[in-house]
This record gives sequence, C-alpha cells and structure tokens, in this order.
Amino acid sequence: MIVCVCNNVSERKIKLAVDNGITSMSELRNNLEVGTCCGKCHSCAKRVLRECLADA
Ligand code: FES
Repeated sequence: MIVCVCNNVSERKIKLAVDNGITSMSELRNNLEVGTCCGKCHSCAKRVLRECLADA
C-alpha cells in the first residue's frame, strides 16, 4: 500500500526503513521524504511507523 502518494513511499519502504534503524517521524521524513509535500499522509505514516516499531 502506498502511504505517501506525493513521494511514492509504500508501507513496505517504511518497514525497510525501520529495519534499518529508523525510529521516528523526523528520521522518516529526512530519509524517505514522507509528508514533505502535501502533508496528508502524516497520520497514516505515523500509524504505519508505530506498527512497524511494535513488530520490530
Ligand atoms: Fe505524503 Fe503528500 S501524500 S506528502
């Protein structure tokens, strides 16, 4: 599933980023540019990040 349409970031990409050590939205933003355009994906990205961290 695509989380951030503007920057073409999928749930899978976020999972991979968490596997590579990302733990916060600011890191996600810096690395994948999630939420840097329209910002609509912010809450969805946050939820996916939280789920990935819980699974890690
Ligand atoms: Fe993520 Fe627009 S959908 S910034």
